[in-house]
Amino acid sequence: MKHDTQVGLIRRILAHMETGTTDRGAPATSPVTRYLSEERLAREREMIRALPVMVGASSQVARPGDWITHDLSGVPILVVRGDDGVLRAFVNACRHRGARVVDGARGENRRNLICPYHSWTYALDGGLRGLPHPQEFPDLDRATHGLVPLNLAEACGLVWVVPAPGSEIDILAWLGPMVDDLRSFGFEDFTAYAPRRFEAAHDWKLAADANLEAYHFKYLHRDTIAELFQDNRMVADAFGDHWRITLPKASIAGLRALPEPAWRLAEHCNIIYYFFPNLMFLFIGDHATLFAAWPRGVGRSIIDGFTLIPAAPATEKARDHWDRNVKIFWDALGEDFVLMESMQSTLASGANAHLTFGASEFCSAAFEAAVERRIGVAHAAVRDRRS
Ligand code: FES
Ligand SMILES: [Fe+2]
Repeated sequence: MKHDTQVGLIRRILAHMETGTTDRGAPATSPVTRYLSEERLAREREMIRALPVMVGASSQVARPGDWITHDLSGVPILVVRGDDGVLRAFVNACRHRGARVVDGARGENRRNLICPYHSWTYALDGGLRGLPHPQEFPDLDRATHGLVPLNLAEACGLVWVVPAPGSEIDILAWLGPMVDDLRSFGFEDFTAYAPRRFEAAHDWKLAADANLEAYHFKYLHRDTIAELFQDNRMVADAFGDHWRITLPKASIAGLRALPEPAWRLAEHCNIIYYFFPNLMFLFIGDHATLFAAWPRGVGRSIIDGFTLIPAAPATEKARDHWDRNVKIFWDALGEDFVLMESMQSTLASGANAHLTFGASEFCSAAFEAAVERRIGVAHAAVRDRRS
């Protein structure tokens, strides 16, 4: 992150500390029906499939022949690095009769992609290379029967794919300037560590609602991270529908005694980079833990994430260090997930027609409004304009 930007954020935080304030927007509401409807969820899934989403880490597909699969978007995705070093994504569906061409989560050293059913064989660039008994398919045009390509880009050490075939979105333009921040912190070359995947009994959107506000820190996280952070204080910047949320620690007050050129934001803040629609990327000084929340069904989601660290741990000591950091993150996040499930469990009770977001929860409200807008539901009850 440019030093100017760091200084600007720190100034905003120090000003809030003087006046006892935080960034705020308009209070808003979110109808509980958003989290309870099969029909609505289908449209949200369609929205997600049409957008760039994170499907893995560049470090998992670093060499030619390395591959990963990803199924959480509803589209079976295969990502493989070609002999030419180019990373590509395909729908993991054979063009013969649709079997999955590659089974499993990840692997390496592929020279080609052979469907297990009748052995149609594809090159790593997706082209149909061969098939047994080709005389059985006299009219087959091999040129149009390669694996179906998907739009892919690498950024921040992550692999981004648009699951819906035919997308022409410029993924890097979509991700926007937050990528420049993360590049400056070195994430392009970081390694994925300690992957974690679990099912949760709440709507996928509640994970965004919960992680885009600091109003709850002092209470929900009282036994874990609350002491480190300031009560109900953040500075938030929108980049399209993405958010950068800077969460100041108590220690930032000490910067008042230092000249601005010596100010280092990352020493005194954690930063949430929330990439719409579903990726929460928490930057923590010298590493990041991130997860995507995927819809699994009404009131059910799958959380899929890992930690990005500068290099794979080479010693027991390094491993202990990162394991400790990973544990701190998931212990604190575990507290959030318990409450997300708690919220989901009351939504159909009739107690609330809508959830209420206060002024300092405006990023959560803006996220909900962005989903509304993108699935084409106008709802007068939602206001996402910052005051
Ligand atoms: S379905 Fe793949 S070769 Fe037949
Ligand atoms: Fe939290």
